[in-house]
Amino acid sequence: MSNDKSSNVVWHHGDVSRDDRRAVTGQSGCTVWLTGLPSSGKSTLAFAVEKLLTDRGQVAYVLDGDNVRHGLCGNLGFSADDRAENIRRIGEVARLFADAGVIVLCSFVSPYRADRADVRTMHDAIDLPFLEVYINTPVDICEQRDPKGLYKKARAGDIKGFTGVDDPYEAPDAPELEVDAANQSVAANAERVVRLLSERGIIAAS
Ligand code: ADX
Repeated sequence: MSNDKSSNVVWHHGDVSRDDRRAVTGQSGCTVWLTGLPSSGKSTLAFAVEKLLTDRGQVAYVLDGDNVRHGLCGNLGFSADDRAENIRRIGEVARLFADAGVIVLCSFVSPYRADRADVRTMHDAIDLPFLEVYINTPVDICEQRDPKGLYKKARAGDIKGFTGVDDPYEAPDAPELEVDAANQSVAANAERVVRLLSERGIIAAS
């Protein structure tokens, strides 16, 4: 998005580098981006990884779709434009957290490839790792689970444009990790995410 309303602003560099921060925390900041259908298991996995990392003494934080839509993105709906703006805002916030040295776990449906690619590009631009994790749960399983009853409402026509029912979900072409939340346990999938972080040198091997 162009910065056309924010003219005459200049980036101010501080005196603390990413290496300085790493020396304090013993980890590199990064963004782990969990994408998948509603009720695919993104939030559950994100919070499980946050707990595992915290128990290991790492600094991790979940940005979750439903939570963020209570505040930062509370003025956005579910049109393609609003979803793009939702993902752009979260992408910017995640990038700030990652730059600060935090392992950010973003859990958003983020159904459009282009929106996720934009977030990856904004991380690449300042050399911050962006790891896309695809929660590949078939829509019929998500619909059976339906903990919030939203598929039911969408099928009844009470929600229009619900992802997986009458709105598209574009699966990642080349995610850093794909997990099967229908057949693998939350604990096993959380361990896989943590392993990915250690393979990428973001945290030390356990
Ligand atoms: S995104 O598409 O913009 O990435 P986000 O992850 O923030 O979506 O929010 C998705 C959550 O909002 C879902 O888990 C669900 O609880 C709720 N929701 C409400 N309406 C919709 C809709 N039309 N499509 C998808 N999710 C919806």
